Amino acid sequence: MNEDFSLLDPALEAYVEASTSPVEPLLEALDRDTHVNVLCPRMLSGAYQGKLLEFLSRMISPSRILEIGTYTGYSAICLAKGLRPGGRLLTLEHNPELEERIRHYIKAAGLEEQVELRLGEALDLLPDLPAEAFDLIFLDADKANYPRYYPLLKRLLKPGGWLLIDNVLWNGKVWDGHSKDKDTEAVRVLNRMVGEDEGVENVLIPVRDGINIVRKLLV
Ligand SMILES: C[S@@+](CC[C@H](N)C(=O)[O-])C[C@H]1O[C@@H](n2cnc3c(N)ncnc32)[C@H](O)[C@@H]1O
Repeated sequence: MNEDFSLLDPALEAYVEASTSPVEPLLEALDRDTHVNVLCPRMLSGAYQGKLLEFLSRMISPSRILEIGTYTGYSAICLAKGLRPGGRLLTLEHNPELEERIRHYIKAAGLEEQVELRLGEALDLLPDLPAEAFDLIFLDADKANYPRYYPLLKRLLKPGGWLLIDNVLWNGKVWDGHSKDKDTEAVRVLNRMVGEDEGVENVLIPVRDGINIVRKLLV
């Protein structure tokens, strides 16, 4: 379970999770393996958010997905389930120690053809990607750089495309009025940038640690 970030009442959280479709065995195994063998397992999306990501992706039915922050591959597998036939997901990760585990689970999910892992610093890799190439982008990496990612990712989104930004409530610190650490300030700046951007519409949903769902407007 991944309740560490949750802002919900624990009883409510237990109820909504119990009332959501169960997770498949492969994702359960990946979740367990991550918790036993990998540092910072609370970073993994987990069953409930994973199902939400899968459903959002299925509703969008994207041809091209970009993910920033693969970790052990949980959300990449969830998002890839919504790809339309022939679609592809590119996921960026800067920690090479995760590579073997990511590739193992992508293969076990039967997604080797659809999912490409690229290792490196996302801020170095993003400027080389073609503009307006992606229907769906999931940002889930270093929070301190969120304001730097935003214009880069907007360039990569097709008009009408969707950007999902994770952890936009940052454990409740974004609105508590006194947290001044670098990550919290960066997430506040990001949420303000999105809110003030006339080129997008958004809805911030308080699921787990908060997801900002942003739609790039058609020009
Ligand atoms: C919160 S975890 C991602 C969790 C994953 N999306 C999931 O839902 O299971 C963030 C990941 O981003 C990676 N990361 C952090 N900063 C990065 C950067 N500058 N470039 C690429 N990856 C980065 C971290 O190594 C970590 O694996």
